[in-house]
Amino acid sequence: MIKARIIGTGSYAPGKVLTNRDLETFLDTSDEWIVSRTGIRERHIAADNEATSDLAVQAAKRALAMAGLTADDLDMIVVGTVTGDFPWPGTACLVQHKLGTRGQAAFDVSAACSGFLYGLSNAVGRIESGQCRRALVVGAEILSRIVDWEDRNTAVLFGDGAGAVVLEAREGDSGVLSTHLHADGSFWELLYQPGFGSRNPVSAQGVEDRLGYLRMQGNEVFKIAVRSLHEVAVEALEANGVEPADLDLFIPHQANRRILEATAKRLGLKPEQVYVNVDRFGNTSGASIPIALDEANRAGRIQPGDLVLLDAFGGGLTWASALLRW
Ligand code: ACO
Repeated sequence: MIKARIIGTGSYAPGKVLTNRDLETFLDTSDEWIVSRTGIRERHIAADNEATSDLAVQAAKRALAMAGLTADDLDMIVVGTVTGDFPWPGTACLVQHKLGTRGQAAFDVSAACSGFLYGLSNAVGRIESGQCRRALVVGAEILSRIVDWEDRNTAVLFGDGAGAVVLEAREGDSGVLSTHLHADGSFWELLYQPGFGSRNPVSAQGVEDRLGYLRMQGNEVFKIAVRSLHEVAVEALEANGVEPADLDLFIPHQANRRILEATAKRLGLKPEQVYVNVDRFGNTSGASIPIALDEANRAGRIQPGDLVLLDAFGGGLTWASALLRW
């Protein structure tokens, strides 16, 4: 049986770090409020000359190096992002070009914080069906460009970064065991960027109305996030006949420590089973799971044979999970 196995991981965080204390200097907020409500202490912010594809390429190069492959070995490139370099073409095409390769499929997935797992699922399906042998899946975001830095409700939550995995078709029991994707578009307005697509095209009035910045109804998102993250995690466990206690590592989307802890509690997980880095990155949307996966991998927190559950939730609303046998 052919499985899609992750043979390389990589991540990249821009050099500039913005702490809660830094935010206090221009927002009516405090380190105490942010840490107690979110667990976030600092986040990385891209340099002015960095675009999302630049972050994605750094993460991709590290994943390719770990896999011992070059970009020419790839059959497809997927980037999960809602902050691409341009509305179009897809950031994946720019990543392909910057990696110095051409010809293979390259496209973006727009599923907000679930974008990486949506992309992973697509790659897994193509590998298992024999349409492709090797895939690069990236989650990359520069949320700092669409955050309203005058809105303390949202500005404190987000950060920039990229994470990537290289998948290869392999025989055996290890690899991605299953993926599960969901969405409920009736909640689209809870978390979105009003401008500047076809609904609200670019206009001076739109700029004045701050339509280019993300909007979120945090309380509503919080409630649905905990419920959905739990449901889709259980779906993955049940599909594979696995108990929560069997998990070696649970890597949820790093949105907010309270959401992570509430989800882990509902699943009955011990703290040592849960990977948390939201304190250092904030919410990096589509990048958060692959960054955490790469950190955990490089730190030796994941060993061959381990069971790893990835769990995402984001704008759309979308939610998704993937169970891996490392
Ligand atoms: N500093 C100080 N005070 C603040 C700040 C801030 N940064 N932000 C809001 N407040 C104030 C509010 O104005 C409000 O004041 P008021 O009572 O005088 O009106 C008070 O704090 C409480 O606000 P709430 O919104 O009720 O605070 P809550 O405890 O719900 O926490 C938060 C807000 C952190 C946004 C929470 O709702 C949350 O985490 N929601 C989920 C958000 C999220 O993770 N979204 C992303 C998931 S999907 C994705 O990743 C894209």
